Amino acid sequence: MSTAIQSRVAFIGSECYPFVKTGGLGDVMYALPRALIREGCQVRVLLPLYRVIPQKYKDQMTWKGSFMMNLTQDGREFFVGIMEMEKDGVLYDFIENREFFDWGNPYTGLWEDIPKYCYFSKAALAALNYLNWVPDVVHCHDWQAALAPVYLRTLFAPTPVGSARSILTIHNLRFQGICSIEHLKYWSGLPDDLFNYSVFLINDHEANMFKGGLAYADRVTTVSETYAREIQTDFYGEGLNSHLWYHREKLSGIVNGIDVDQWDPRRDSRLPENYGPEDVLERKWKNKLALQQRLGLTEDAGKFVIGLISRLTDQKGLDLVNTVFEQMLDDQTQIVILGTGDPRYEGSFRYFENVHHGQVCSCILYDEGLSHQIYAGADALLVPSLFEPCGLTQLIAMRYGTVPFVRETGGLKDTVEPYNANTGAGNGFTFDRYRADLLLDTVRRGRDVFVNNRPAWDAIVRRDMEKDVSWDRSARQYLNLYSELKK
Ligand code: ADP
Ligand code: GLC
Repeated sequence: MSTAIQSRVAFIGSECYPFVKTGGLGDVMYALPRALIREGCQVRVLLPLYRVIPQKYKDQMTWKGSFMMNLTQDGREFFVGIMEMEKDGVLYDFIENREFFDWGNPYTGLWEDIPKYCYFSKAALAALNYLNWVPDVVHCHDWQAALAPVYLRTLFAPTPVGSARSILTIHNLRFQGICSIEHLKYWSGLPDDLFNYSVFLINDHEANMFKGGLAYADRVTTVSETYAREIQTDFYGEGLNSHLWYHREKLSGIVNGIDVDQWDPRRDSRLPENYGPEDVLERKWKNKLALQQRLGLTEDAGKFVIGLISRLTDQKGLDLVNTVFEQMLDDQTQIVILGTGDPRYEGSFRYFENVHHGQVCSCILYDEGLSHQIYAGADALLVPSLFEPCGLTQLIAMRYGTVPFVRETGGLKDTVEPYNANTGAGNGFTFDRYRADLLLDTVRRGRDVFVNNRPAWDAIVRRDMEKDVSWDRSARQYLNLYSELKK
């Protein structure tokens, strides 16, 4: 705690629960600052004031001021407004600009998103100067905030915030902010000499925002140790593996946690029946019945219910799921899907629901409340990802006594220990190579324990619920990193 007391950290990122969330980044932007302030840190979170942020939060914000900021190569000026609110000790500063944020969803398409996040990265630093709040560390998240470390060392170097150090956290390397060199030059307004192969360029005509940020950040982290190693390889490196390998001395992995107050089966008001590790066996099944009833599945607590809560994209291993879907089903199995995304997967899951009414339910929507009920009501949660920087759904599942079935990649590998039938150790079922038959085998092995060896299954459930999936340990690792940077 003592080293942390003076640490002031500014988080810069494109989403944050409960204001706006499309995936795990939103959860981390919410939960990590809260864990850091418990350790004595001062944290400010800078976010875009998107139109989709619910009015009830906008009503709680206060106006902190505004100024004009030049942005583009030809010096065009843009309005920067700052709206602020405090929530549980964390200060949130929202950057207001109608031109960039007052239409559509957070992410609309790269052509518009690149100007939007050039503006946002620069405006966030300018806002810190305007607020006269100079952090020790600017902690930036994903490609949308990747220009902040670059601005910090260049255009902002002579300004107060220029004394801060920077961290860039990779939540997902697949998205990098790539566009034509001219587009990025124009919108970033950054000097021409940065447009070389060590910083932004990836070929003769394209520039990459993430690549530049990774070059300029003082430290680079990603959200699990395994993913930190994986992204230095060709398969997982998304074209940046050599760049990351070159910068490996400043790269490390810190595994995500979850906010255990937000995700607490004992007090979760969205659950029909609350429970903890001590009474999970007596109570959790009532959530299964309620879920089956809500979704029109055959009501039977003896069924083996597999849940899948996910963005429906290739990253999540859904082609494997499609391949063996019908084989995974048997008389005692039900499958519940919650997700939106690629029409290909939305379509195939709707199809499976149609053919297996009462046994399969595909909820093609984004529904926070329903996700809680699936985490509580399912027996197993499927996460067969092609790659997974960390993954939060398996952590939430464990907290709710729902056994994760995962592929051994990224954070899934670091957080799920495979069940060992000989020793009884482990807290989930896993497979290594990206193959549909191995996924099927995993589901069958897990279901076999559920059906034929219930005491062993129940022991896994209890172990999952007792596992520490909180942010405590990882927040301390970030604090150590902040302290090192301050020295
Ligand atoms: P990613 O960030 O790659 O999408 P994570 O596992 O890190 O994956 O985080 C996903 C987060 O989004 C979890 O909090 C999960 O519960 C939530 N989520 C994903 N899809 C949905 C959905 N359709 N409805 C509600 N919550 C969802
Ligand atoms: C990304 C990753 C996911 C990770 C999340 C939060 O969206 O896909 O694995 O858990 O960010 O770090």
